[in-house]
Amino acid sequence: MAIVVMILVAVHALAGVFWVGSTLALTHSDLTLTRKLFRAQMSAAVLAVAAGLGLWGLLIRGAHGPMADTLGLGALCALIAAGVQGGMYRMHPTRGQRIAAVLLSVTVVCMVISPYVR
Ligand code: HEM
Repeated sequence: MAIVVMILVAVHALAGVFWVGSTLALTHSDLTLTRKLFRAQMSAAVLAVAAGLGLWGLLIRGAHGPMADTLGLGALCALIAAGVQGGMYRMHPTRGQRIAAVLLSVTVVCMVISPYVR
């Protein structure tokens, strides 16, 4: 099981870093680049969420407590960010990236502090 967890963490972190990093960069970019990267961003989002759900199933399952709550808040923000990015893509793509950037920043903070929350 350790090897599965390691693979999932690697996929999760790599896809998440691309998703969040590109979102932050596109808050100050032109529309052409936003359109060019949209599919890659959404693919990274799907990978990050899928691997995250896999990790949740393996490591957290029915556990309760501050760590699970913190991860849950981060995951919720990531899911809302994906909805905002996808939903606002046609009418207000840059605004969608900006809102998603705030939500995904909360996600990253929640994910990395979760082991230390008591
Ligand atoms: C629905 C979305 C998500 C879910 C369900 C989820 C779930 C999880 C879970 C369960 C862990 C804990 C793994 C462990 O205990 O070692 C974790 C860790 C982590 N997640 Fe997520 N995650 C999501 C989105 C994201 C996103 C978008 C990022 C962006 C970079 C991210 C970055 C990380 C990082 C860096 C860790 C490692 C934290 C550490 O142990 O130091 N996650 N995630």
